[in-house]
Amino acid sequence: MCSILSNILQRYEKPEAVKIKNPERVEELIKNMAADGPGALQMITDFDMTLTRFHQDGEKCDTCHGILHSSSLMSEEFKKRSQDLFNKYYPIEIDHTMTVEEKIPYMLKWYEESHETLTTFPFEKKHLTEMVKTSRILFRDGAVEMLEALNEKQVPVMVFSAGVGDILEEVLRKFNSYHSNTKVVSNSMEFNDEGRLIGFKGPLIHMFNKNEKAIRQSQPKYFENLSHRGNVLLLGDSLGDVDMVEGVMEPGAVIKIGFLNTKIEERLESFMNSFDIVLIDDQSMDFINLILTHVL
Ligand code: C5P
Ligand code: MG
Repeated sequence: MCSILSNILQRYEKPEAVKIKNPERVEELIKNMAADGPGALQMITDFDMTLTRFHQDGEKCDTCHGILHSSSLMSEEFKKRSQDLFNKYYPIEIDHTMTVEEKIPYMLKWYEESHETLTTFPFEKKHLTEMVKTSRILFRDGAVEMLEALNEKQVPVMVFSAGVGDILEEVLRKFNSYHSNTKVVSNSMEFNDEGRLIGFKGPLIHMFNKNEKAIRQSQPKYFENLSHRGNVLLLGDSLGDVDMVEGVMEPGAVIKIGFLNTKIEERLESFMNSFDIVLIDDQSMDFINLILTHVL
């Protein structure tokens, strides 16, 4: 009997979009998470295409990098070069026939070439706010409310992204969602004294090294400080996102939720093997907010 899960599914608008390999296990995890309450919970979430929407009204939405590609403040030549890189490497990122090991060299090449492109063209720190303001980056429906509810109960949220930290922080501010419970682990831009981008600081975070090591380099004592919070809601849209939970100390009820945004048929099986719950083309946080009604 999966009573909490069926209650959630009954209240959820698109139950056919929810795929769960082992409903009994998920029922047990939600039950334990609910019994332990907000004091035992933490959230670890990816940013691009997880906190943010994949599409709206038939048009694809921006990612952190996409903001740069589409901004009127960037030159046409820069946009073309970045778009070419995206068209070349994104299909590899989501290719279901390649292993992660096979993909990594291409992903490293993508970051190397895109960082090089970015620093070749004039880019100034002062443009960030304007770029984000005019971009097509949107939070999933209910994401602002989710982050607000978690902050209200002082549940720590880590936003862990292989995108650009400076940009995603600006997006969180734009939606009034950069609360005191939130920590960001991502790539940081480096500017010179005149405010011009000269490169990136610190170790590179790419889509397949989002793990404990990357967190330790950015937030050394993060998981030690949260050792009493073994229950985790993990949100992601890429198979690489499941590793974000690796460093959690004394893990308890860990629920991994995957948003399957594109290449759905080809990737469904691998998503169901990696995530406890898979949400197919759902541009909202409704399902997660329903879980939270039982936990917070
Ligand atoms: O926040 P998240 O970890 O999802 O951000 C990483 C995403 O940014 C990748 O999934 C990739 O598709 C995208 N990306 C990009 N351009 C780059 C590097 C990454 O659009 N140069
Ligand atoms: Mg993502």
